[in-house]
Amino acid sequence: MAKEKKIKRIAINTGGGDAPGLNAVIRAVVISALHKGIEVVGIRDGYNGLMMPEEYPEGGLITLSRGKVRGITHLGGTILGTTNKGNPAKYPTQGPDGKWYEKDRTDELMAAFRKNKIDALVALGGDGSLGIANILAEKGLRVIGVPKTIDNDLEKTVATFGFDTAVSFATECLDRLHSTASAHRRIMVVEVMGRYAGWIALNTGVSGNADAILIPEIPYDIKKVAEALKLRPKRGKHYCIVVVAEGARPVGGSVSVLSKELGRAEKLGGAGEKVARELEPLVGKECRTVVLGHLLRGGSPTTFDRLLSLRFGAAAVRALEEGYSGVMVALDPPTVRYVPLREISGRMKTVPPDCDTIATARELGICMGDN
Ligand code: F6P
Repeated sequence: MAKEKKIKRIAINTGGGDAPGLNAVIRAVVISALHKGIEVVGIRDGYNGLMMPEEYPEGGLITLSRGKVRGITHLGGTILGTTNKGNPAKYPTQGPDGKWYEKDRTDELMAAFRKNKIDALVALGGDGSLGIANILAEKGLRVIGVPKTIDNDLEKTVATFGFDTAVSFATECLDRLHSTASAHRRIMVVEVMGRYAGWIALNTGVSGNADAILIPEIPYDIKKVAEALKLRPKRGKHYCIVVVAEGARPVGGSVSVLSKELGRAEKLGGAGEKVARELEPLVGKECRTVVLGHLLRGGSPTTFDRLLSLRFGAAAVRALEEGYSGVMVALDPPTVRYVPLREISGRMKTVPPDCDTIATARELGICMGDN
């Protein structure tokens, strides 16, 4: 963890999928930086505003004043825009032969930071964006990462901002599905995001009284799931709710991938529909699928996420002022501490199969796909 000298002008950017709380972090960074006499600019759409300013007639950088960030704490999305295409370390580029390949444009990006007299960067992102932030830090830019993702799959922080909002909304959706599933005596299969980690599915399923929860960390046996659901009517319950993480996979099978494009992570989808198709004949009940998808990323952050985002934003500026670089602000209750970006980059925090929440699910009679 290197100690650095005082900075005068910082940039902030938001990368990857948006998450509730981005605007709250932006506001906290801007206000606390201005308070300390540091100027702040926002980069549009990840790094695009800095790397390709010609594509932004209105300017690829936005000067962030108090007025620009007034009243945005509770707003979803990001006032800066974001992208999950065009990782500068693997930028999709067409060669003279017409073929597409991934090009490393990080030196070009470093030059753009110097040209715009930006002393430091506060990068808001998930694993991909923080990996890029780590590369830039290793190349000499002063960088502080802020852990954003509804998936909660980042190492070394108890929580990422956006996760609580996603789980709260998904739980509310489950509450609504109970009544319609009960009215029709159906099985409702609910697919939730989360990539290769089951945090959203697990926390939603337990909080929303699901009958089965299928997560990537526990490959499922569809026959065991069907057997567990068939026991429900014997206990007087004639409908079921099954929560399926988009990254769930059967024993010996693979994750449902929709597509893989150059320069971006693979798109997942279809896990819920696959489970519903297979369960219907095995249980002998009508199965319907609901994909919550991007709805989990929208709306106002919960109070927990607002406060966490504001704390992370203020801590990022504090870290810069204290001379840190190449670190991520991380929740370690009751405090926010700094952890080296290299310790989280390329790693994923998945659900430990022996954790208390899974034990709770099993003790409440919820099928986890293997019992
Ligand atoms: O990482 C956040 C996330 O919402 C994942 O849960 C999901 O798989 C992915 O982003 C979807 O991204 P896109 O916006 O490309 O569909």
